[in-house]
Amino acid sequence: MDGLRERIEALPGMPELLGALDGLPPVYVVGGAVRDLLRGAQPLDLDVAVEGDAPEAARALAGRLGGEVVEHDRFGTATVTGLPLELNLATTRRESYAAPGALPDVEPAGLAEDLGRRDFTFNAMAVGLSGPDAGVLHDPHGGRADLDAGLVRVLHDQSFIDDPTRLLRAVRYAARLGAELEPHTDDLARAAIAAGAPATVSGKRVRDELIDLLAEHEAPTALKSMRTLQLDRALHPALEADPERASSVMLAAGETGADPVLAALAVLIGGDPAALGSWLDGLALSRDERDRVARAAVSGPGLAGVLFTEMPSSELYDLLRREPPEALALALASGAPGEPVLRYIADLAGARLAVTGDDLIAAGVRPSPALGRALEETLRRKLDGQVSGRDEELALALELARGAPG
Ligand code: CTP
Repeated sequence: MDGLRERIEALPGMPELLGALDGLPPVYVVGGAVRDLLRGAQPLDLDVAVEGDAPEAARALAGRLGGEVVEHDRFGTATVTGLPLELNLATTRRESYAAPGALPDVEPAGLAEDLGRRDFTFNAMAVGLSGPDAGVLHDPHGGRADLDAGLVRVLHDQSFIDDPTRLLRAVRYAARLGAELEPHTDDLARAAIAAGAPATVSGKRVRDELIDLLAEHEAPTALKSMRTLQLDRALHPALEADPERASSVMLAAGETGADPVLAALAVLIGGDPAALGSWLDGLALSRDERDRVARAAVSGPGLAGVLFTEMPSSELYDLLRREPPEALALALASGAPGEPVLRYIADLAGARLAVTGDDLIAAGVRPSPALGRALEETLRRKLDGQVSGRDEELALALELARGAPG
């Protein structure tokens, strides 16, 4: 169908995979890979639905193709690694939601029900791989037409209530595909938001979707939709999706070495970092990531003003040395002059002395905090151009260390 079969066959390792399916239950490529193939994009891994026991099929395929099987989670899924394309196999299933926002209960079912449990029509398509079904598109919800028309459409009216993470997914796909929410879907999204559905989702699930959203090339467009729908406020009343600032900080992240996703997250909580502290904790980022986001949100905007004051390099160094790169990106996005920030990154951040504490100890200085302070002060004077070369550094550091009390 329209070259779909050829595109599937052209995927790395596909002829071998198709040849290894004999005797297995029917298998299908499902979800994002079908969407991407129809758009002419190349999937990096394949979600494969099995109308039967997926872990068993995974073991059979790994045996025939020489891959490794990793089994996971309560949904009976397995991944085959070590092949040209990673295969994620899952048994086709139906889902029911015991409570809004909770993870679904699942049980095995046929392909039709597996497609019917999905988020959007363009993610609810499958392509057969087995026997005469190979290359056949299964598109019971009109996903292909919606993809072509640029419409994000849910499959049923309860979709956003069952799984409010789909609200974040909807704006993410709309931004990525240059699509918009189909009018009825838009109404349902607004109703779910007005009903407070986003607040029923765990912090970790919000984090996963939010990080995917902020990692999109078109993240600012997605943030704009979040604001229009008031999805930001529904996640927490103090959250503010500011697409312009997010766009600036993502650009600035490239200059400061910041993680653009963390920098954008800092913008999101930047309106009221104090009120959003426990919301940020709930996302369960790593300690380091959490600290960088919080610090950037608190200090980035303030730095923008301070950096307009002329100051010696040593002072600039002291001002910025404890700041994560995300704070520097936020300062730039908040209007900080570029010169001092870029000078700090290029010339100051990595500056080191040629002498060490061991040199001072070898020259007879006793180990003490004063020794560390002497080295720090020597570095400051080096940054300000008052000493240069190892001999001058050593002489100054010794003078400071010997002259210092304690
Ligand atoms: N899915 C869903 N509801 C969710 C999450 C996922 O229905 N809340 C389904 C969709 O059919 C989706 C598939 O599971 O296509 C796989 O989800 P995921 O890996 O998150 O997305 P992809 O479609 O692979 O897209 P992306 O390119 O964004 O990773």
